[in-house]
Amino acid sequence: MLIASDILKRGRRTIPVPLSKFNTGTHSHDFFLDLTSGLYVHLPFCKRLCSFCELNMVISNDEKLHNEYITSLHLEIKNNLPLKHKINGLYFGGGSPSFLSIPSFKMLIEGIKETLDLSNLSQFIIEYHPDDLDDEKLLFLKSIGVTELRIGIQDFDSTVLKNVNRNPLQFNFEYAKKLGFKLGADFIVGLPHQNKNSMTSMMEKIKNLPFDFVQFYPLKLSSFGEHNFRLLGSGVHLADSEIVEYLQFIHQELLSVFKPHGFGFYSKENLNTRTLMGFVPDEFKNFYGAGVGSFSRMGNLIKQNPVRLNDYTSAIFAKNTSILSKFKYYSLNDEEILAEILFYEKLKNNAVTNPQIFWSDYI
Ligand SMILES: C[S@@+](CC[C@H](N)C(=O)[O-])C[C@H]1O[C@@H](n2cnc3c(N)ncnc32)[C@H](O)[C@@H]1O
Ligand code: SF4
Repeated sequence: MLIASDILKRGRRTIPVPLSKFNTGTHSHDFFLDLTSGLYVHLPFCKRLCSFCELNMVISNDEKLHNEYITSLHLEIKNNLPLKHKINGLYFGGGSPSFLSIPSFKMLIEGIKETLDLSNLSQFIIEYHPDDLDDEKLLFLKSIGVTELRIGIQDFDSTVLKNVNRNPLQFNFEYAKKLGFKLGADFIVGLPHQNKNSMTSMMEKIKNLPFDFVQFYPLKLSSFGEHNFRLLGSGVHLADSEIVEYLQFIHQELLSVFKPHGFGFYSKENLNTRTLMGFVPDEFKNFYGAGVGSFSRMGNLIKQNPVRLNDYTSAIFAKNTSILSKFKYYSLNDEEILAEILFYEKLKNNAVTNPQIFWSDYI
């Protein structure tokens, strides 16, 4: 019998093996050539630190640093994917990709276009911080072909947000929808000051807003380790048992509006494959991940880039091979591949009436 904390830990797994199993070193780039139809680009920069954040991010508004990083992204993509390779899906994740200035965005997208063929993009997603509310930026993103915004809401309640060092929510969802973006929203369950009432009003708001999908993450604080544990403002975060209770409540509430896909992910369309980007259509199962800490997935091979910004940029610009030990690889064996296939089959066929079934089965 699994205890709640096991369920929660497994709820956020996006790769099927623990990182401790990865090998360092080099691997033939050929693995990433022909099959790659998706490109993930990690943009780690944020304006200010949310006290719960466990992501690979850098607090900096130094545009020079942003642009240097963009140059290393261009080089990485050029060195790893064939010239004019056709990409069908593009995903900017972070950090806060929406924090980049319009000129930096232009530089980023122009450089990618020089190297890859983006004429056939069916999906171009960007993670959007609600503070970057800026009509001009939204119009610009529309003009370069962005199809979806994934907005980090966390909670609608200003007390909950203030406590974790976030501003009150002020995002014009209707306007973004009018511009033609698909809208997704991320929420966290487990933050201090959340309770049954706030969950109930969150559900009402979600049902009335024009979201195409929503994702609920159980609060996770473990990756900082005990030494770096950041205090979550004034409140006490929820107990694991309460988080599970609320996730089940959310599940029941949203079934009338969304299709469940497991891991707290609900969307209005059919999506089959779990990747770093959440659930996506099968065609994006294989993808190249550029940027600091990014994962790439090609069949049974998984690669992870160096996780520290300096290590990443020096590895990308390095002429010698010693730095290659900063990259990590893992080849899934037949048993692990089979376990993964069975897991997803179950996920697809079972219609997720109880989210715990899916979390607890993911090994
Ligand atoms: C890559 S972040 C991008 C969002 C964007 N930077 C923002 O904050 O609006 C994606 C999501 O991960 C979730 N997340 C971040 N840290 C988390 C944590 N410690 N526990 C659970 N979920 C977390 C948040 O819901 C966040 O919106
Ligand atoms: S939650 Fe988002 S905005 Fe906050 S520090 Fe993390 S990545 Fe940056």
